[in-house]
Amino acid sequence: MRHTHAVPHAWIDTDAGYASADQIVLATGMPIADRGLSFAKVRALRSYCVAFAYDGELPEGMYISVDEPTRSIRPVNPDDGPAELARLIVGGNGHPVGRGDSEKDCVDDVIAWTRRHFPGAEPVATWSAQDYESHNLVPFVGALPRGLGRIRFATGYAKWGLTNAPAAALRLSAEIRRVPRRERPSWMATLGRRLTVPADLGRGGVENLKIGWEATAGWTGALRTHVPVPAPPEGEGVVASRAGHPVGISTVDGTTRAVSAVCTHLGGVVSWNDAECTWDCPLHGSRFAPDGTRIEGPAVGDLERLPRTGRPSGARADE
Ligand code: FES
Repeated sequence: MRHTHAVPHAWIDTDAGYASADQIVLATGMPIADRGLSFAKVRALRSYCVAFAYDGELPEGMYISVDEPTRSIRPVNPDDGPAELARLIVGGNGHPVGRGDSEKDCVDDVIAWTRRHFPGAEPVATWSAQDYESHNLVPFVGALPRGLGRIRFATGYAKWGLTNAPAAALRLSAEIRRVPRRERPSWMATLGRRLTVPADLGRGGVENLKIGWEATAGWTGALRTHVPVPAPPEGEGVVASRAGHPVGISTVDGTTRAVSAVCTHLGGVVSWNDAECTWDCPLHGSRFAPDGTRIEGPAVGDLERLPRTGRPSGARADE
């Protein structure tokens, strides 16, 4: 939709309608606007949690390992709510989104580790989370470049969202309320510092090399297998080449679907997440449902839905 009237403030145009405001805060995990290239300055991570029924002695506090793979454990206290089902939560095995062999193996490994250390523990629920980490491990908060000071964002909480998110909110609200810098606490300046010091560039450079490798490996891997491929078993997905275009084929709840496996953000080839039954992009962490519906960005569009056989609309006719 195109608006010809004068734009009074910052504005947003969405499928659900148009809105304008004096100030806009992008409160998405990763900023969905690519100005400022935030997606290249943070890396997206997935990690796993399992809740256990357990009759044995519980640890009194919350613990996180200093070594790898990360293990984080905490008891479920009466203050947390009814504890009839779960009494212990164990998390860990974080990894960059879309990279690695099997997300389901990550969950199984947390369960096996817990059973070893808490004999008799039985899993009652599993889930996973997505977090963003900046290259200097400090949240990345402030005004979006080329947003005329009216569009702000915050990302890179590095799994410490319970503390970093309120800190980011305080910084953003201080900016919007134009609280003089001398009256702001010094930590607010740290949150707003740009990612340009050499150590940050070094880490960011390594991460961007990995992204370049994933971009190449995704395409070459996809083009190695050609359709037709057998329908994947329940809960599985494969990427294959159809007329030179990577296609993701999955079976979930008895339905086999095909989608373009090319991420709508910057063209990474998505990979199958067998723990969540989603298509995950190894480049900047966008995720999509088996039918291609976007779950989280930075991509803003769905994967193209394709017939179970046939050419994707983007493929060249001579392929
Ligand atoms: S999230 Fe950037 S290319 Fe997929």
